[in-house]
Amino acid sequence: MRIPKKRRKVSIIGAGNVGATTAQKIVENGLADVVLLDIRDGVAQGKSLDILEAGPLMGFDTRITGTGHYEEIADSSVVVVTAGFSRKPGMSRDDLLHKNGEIIRDVALNIRKFAPDSIVIPVTNPMDLMAYVLWRVTGFPRERVIGMGGALDSSRFAYFLSEETRTSVSNIHSLVMGGHGDQMVPLLDFSTIAGVPVRKMVPPDRLEAIVQRTRHGGAEIVHLMKDSSAYFAPAAATYSMIESILHDRHRIIPSSVLLEGEYGISGSFVGVPVRLGNQGLEEVVVLPLSPEESSQLAHSAGVIAEGISALKRLFNDFSE
Ligand code: NAI
Ligand code: 2OP
Repeated sequence: MRIPKKRRKVSIIGAGNVGATTAQKIVENGLADVVLLDIRDGVAQGKSLDILEAGPLMGFDTRITGTGHYEEIADSSVVVVTAGFSRKPGMSRDDLLHKNGEIIRDVALNIRKFAPDSIVIPVTNPMDLMAYVLWRVTGFPRERVIGMGGALDSSRFAYFLSEETRTSVSNIHSLVMGGHGDQMVPLLDFSTIAGVPVRKMVPPDRLEAIVQRTRHGGAEIVHLMKDSSAYFAPAAATYSMIESILHDRHRIIPSSVLLEGEYGISGSFVGVPVRLGNQGLEEVVVLPLSPEESSQLAHSAGVIAEGISALKRLFNDFSE
C-alpha cells in the first residue's frame, strides 16, 4: 500500500481580515493544511473552528488549526505575514513604520526559529518595507521572502480595464510594478486585452483615469468601508502566489522582492514580475521598459529606499 504524501502546511501570522480570508480560501480549495496564529487570545481558534464547521457544507477536509503558539508553525512550506495595523487617521507613516516594524521583527524572529526552511510572504503594510524587515531579521535568502502587492494591484488594474471595455477579466493581462503605494507603476505597454495593447482599445483620458484609480485602489475601499481596508482581493492575490509556489506552476506574478541590480536597483524590495515555483522566487523577469516607465520605477524605488533608511534609523540597523 502506498502511504499518501502528507499535505503541505501553510501558516498565517495574523488572523484578522486578510489572514482569515486567505486561510479560508486555502482550506476550501484543498490546497494545504493551515495554521492560523494571532496574538489576541481565542481569535485564531474561534475563526479556525468557524471555518472548519463549514467543511461538511463545502466538502473540504483540509485542516486548520488556530493557535497563539509559534511551535505550531514548524514544518510550514509557506508562512504568510498579515499581523499588524493598517494606517489609521492621524497616524504618520513613521508611526506605522515603528508599530508594524516592531511586530514584524518579532514575527521574523519566530519564523527564523520555528520555520527556518519556509518561504515567507509579507502582506503587512507598508509591505515593501516589512518585506525588508522579514528578510533582514530571518536572514533568509531573497528567494524565500516574496511580498504581496503587485498581484493585488495588477488584479485591480485588470478589473477596471474589464469594466471599461466590457470584456471578460479572463481576456485581460495587466501589470503593475513598483512599490505597493501611491508610487506604483501601472504599465500600459505590458497590459493587453485579448492580446491587443490597451492603448489601442481605451482612449488616453480613460486610461489615465484607470491608472489613477488603480494607484488609489486601496484608499477607495477604505473610503467606502471606513473602519477596514480591503481583504477579499488581497486574500485572493496571496492565494495565487501560494498556489503557484506549492503547485510549482512557475506563474509570473508581480511581487516585491529584493533586487540585486535588476532594473538598475539594488538593496530594496520593489514590485517586479517574478516567476514563482516551489523554491520560491525562481527568476526576476526583466522587461524592456520605456524611458518614462524606467524613471517612474526608479522614483518608486527611491521612495522605498528612503523608507529603508528610516527603518534602519528606527531599529538601529537591526543589530540584535
Ligand atoms: P486586521 O486588523 O483585520 O488584522 C490584523 C491582525 O494582526 C489582528 O487580528 C491582530 O490581532 C493581529 N496581530 C497584531 N499584532 C500581532 C502579533 N504581534 N502577532 C500576531 N498577530 C498580531 O488587518 P487586515 O485587514 O487583516 O490587514 C493586515 C495588514 O495587511 C495591514 O497592515 C494592512 O494594511 C495590510 N494589507 C496589505 C495588503 C497588501 O497588498 N500588501 C492588502 C491588504 C492589507
Ligand atoms: C490595499 O491596497 C490596504 O494595501 C492595502 O488595499
